[in-house]
Amino acid sequence: MISRETIEEVKNRVDIIDVISDFVTLKKSGQNYKALSPFANEKTPSFFVVPSKGIFKDFSSGKGGDSFTFVMEHEKLSYVEAIRYLAKKYGVEIKEDRLTDEGIAEQSEREGLYILMNFAKEYYKNILTTHEEGKGIGLSYFRERGFTDRIIEKFELGFALEGWENFSKEAIAKGYNQQLLEKTGLVVKKEDTDGPARTYDRFRGRVIFPVHNISGKIIAFGARMLGKDKNQPKYINSPETDIYHKSDVLYGLFQAKNSIRQQDVCYLVEGYTDVISLHQSDVENVVSSSGTALTENQIKLIHRFTENVTVLFDGDSAGIKAALRGIDMILKGGLNVRVVLFPDGEDPDSYSRKVGTTAFQKFLKEHSQDFVSFKTNLFAAEAAGDPIRKAESIKEVVTSISLIPDPVKRSVYIQETSNQLKISESVLLSELNKILIGDRRKNEKEKIRESDEAVVEEVVQPIAPSTQNMVHYQEKETIRLLLNYADQKLEDQRLADFLLQELEDVEFTNEVLKEIYETFKEGAQSGKLIDNDYFLRTGSEPIKRMVTELITARYATSNHWSDKFQIFFPKEQDVLNNMALSNVLRLKFRVVQKMMDDNLGMVKVAEQKSDWEELDRVLETQAGLKRAESELANLLGIVVAK
Ligand code: GTP
Ligand code: MN
Repeated sequence: MISRETIEEVKNRVDIIDVISDFVTLKKSGQNYKALSPFANEKTPSFFVVPSKGIFKDFSSGKGGDSFTFVMEHEKLSYVEAIRYLAKKYGVEIKEDRLTDEGIAEQSEREGLYILMNFAKEYYKNILTTHEEGKGIGLSYFRERGFTDRIIEKFELGFALEGWENFSKEAIAKGYNQQLLEKTGLVVKKEDTDGPARTYDRFRGRVIFPVHNISGKIIAFGARMLGKDKNQPKYINSPETDIYHKSDVLYGLFQAKNSIRQQDVCYLVEGYTDVISLHQSDVENVVSSSGTALTENQIKLIHRFTENVTVLFDGDSAGIKAALRGIDMILKGGLNVRVVLFPDGEDPDSYSRKVGTTAFQKFLKEHSQDFVSFKTNLFAAEAAGDPIRKAESIKEVVTSISLIPDPVKRSVYIQETSNQLKISESVLLSELNKILIGDRRKNEKEKIRESDEAVVEEVVQPIAPSTQNMVHYQEKETIRLLLNYADQKLEDQRLADFLLQELEDVEFTNEVLKEIYETFKEGAQSGKLIDNDYFLRTGSEPIKRMVTELITARYATSNHWSDKFQIFFPKEQDVLNNMALSNVLRLKFRVVQKMMDDNLGMVKVAEQKSDWEELDRVLETQAGLKRAESELANLLGIVVAK
């Protein structure tokens, strides 16, 4: 709802160097600036800022854009939040387009919830450090667990006094109204009483763990009991509210996010105390889903910061197998998963305290293993000498592999599992395909059930998005080579001629890239000179944008190597020969894979229609494509599953 003018004004005021310098130490390099990437762990700088264009480019992570993009990426803000942030930085007054009355009411109600939650946090913190009961019971409990003052402050831990109305009375005295108290869940209404409704504090006689959202606001509390009362739950948590959706929140993410980004891995533990104990051991890239299985949204949340998750398991966890299903979810989310298993009877919390910081960190490093191979071992050990159980365990492992969205990763896992289990790849592959095809069929059935009329067309195009992406990437790389090196000599041929000749039978899928490619082709046929300028002068907007992107990427790369310019440039020329060739092969490889995906769609349609002749034909096509794929793969040195 921020007005156009405000956005324009912020845009006019921002200075990208100034914006980025708040987070990154930039070094001048010619006209531009460079730095170590804030998005990756690296030793040589690959992060560039071009002030004349108001843009940045990070070659490690591929991220790039203007000041807004930077703030959004670095601080994980939405577009609107980024505007607010920059407006504040540059003192631009934010003018909002009028909200509806409803919108205003909603906004101020949420605001109210945040304010009260913050008040409660301060209240509980205060009790912990200043009140006799808080110090005597709460603080000494935290001390027993080995929490230092610094950690207690970092996580803003607190204590709720014994007694029904201590908090409510304080809050009411400070002017918070009863309705809001109930809305936050801090106060509970007593059920089934006659007479006037009575209310009481939800958290009593417990230590308090505030839950922060990603920007540090308090949205919920977890409260742990101290004694051993069998009739009470160990933890009581805030209920869902307008500002707290349990399944979208990870405990500790606020305190962990920078470290997760820097270390490029996120540790996942069971609960509040594990998160805090790891921080005590200087491991800060850790979060917890607080006792429940990870949800899809929580996985997406992690994915915003890293692609790598390492799950820490209790040693005695009888529930390891049950937990494995939850981990499958993480694979499905496209993340790489490793696991660490603690010695018998130890959890991350107890073990870190037992062995101390250095040994603990070393343990994490040395004992993390890839999840798929961990699972394979687990089942293989169990199934030793029992063929039926062995078959079951193969299914188990392959099911996990089938969830990985990236087909290249899948085939690597199939290979490794084949080695590990001493089972041929083809057996694993046919199991994998069975599952994949079964899954797709299920999805399609659901899709059809959902829509009113069964649209067959929709079923025909189950292109795996990742294959599509790879085709796009390779197409782009081809065009990049053409744009930048068309006239380079490869042996006795121009690079452009070589590429055009090799790609004769390839259809580009992206319209813009296709048009650029066709223009090169026509140019070659008519002897007209086609180069960057030609497109920049005559191309449509999308073409100009694409060409600019592809040529500045090179410009910026060589700039990146500005000190070593002479070294870098000849180098790319040296390898050009190879690059052009392998690029052609790669493009063809991806195209073949995409054709296989497409064709698989037709296989399914034929099956559905029981059209056996058609089925025969498409299956034959599939086999032919598969042969082409492995031929290309061999040339490329990739081993794909046969
Ligand atoms: P100890 O390891 O026994 O010292 O206790 P802890 O405080 O570390 O908790 P525990 O390891 O038993 O549990 C791990 C996580 O599971 C906690 O952080 C909670 O998020 C969750 N949890 C445990 N008990 C309960 C409970 O009674 N109710 C709810 N809602 N969550 C719980
Ligand atoms: Mn514990």
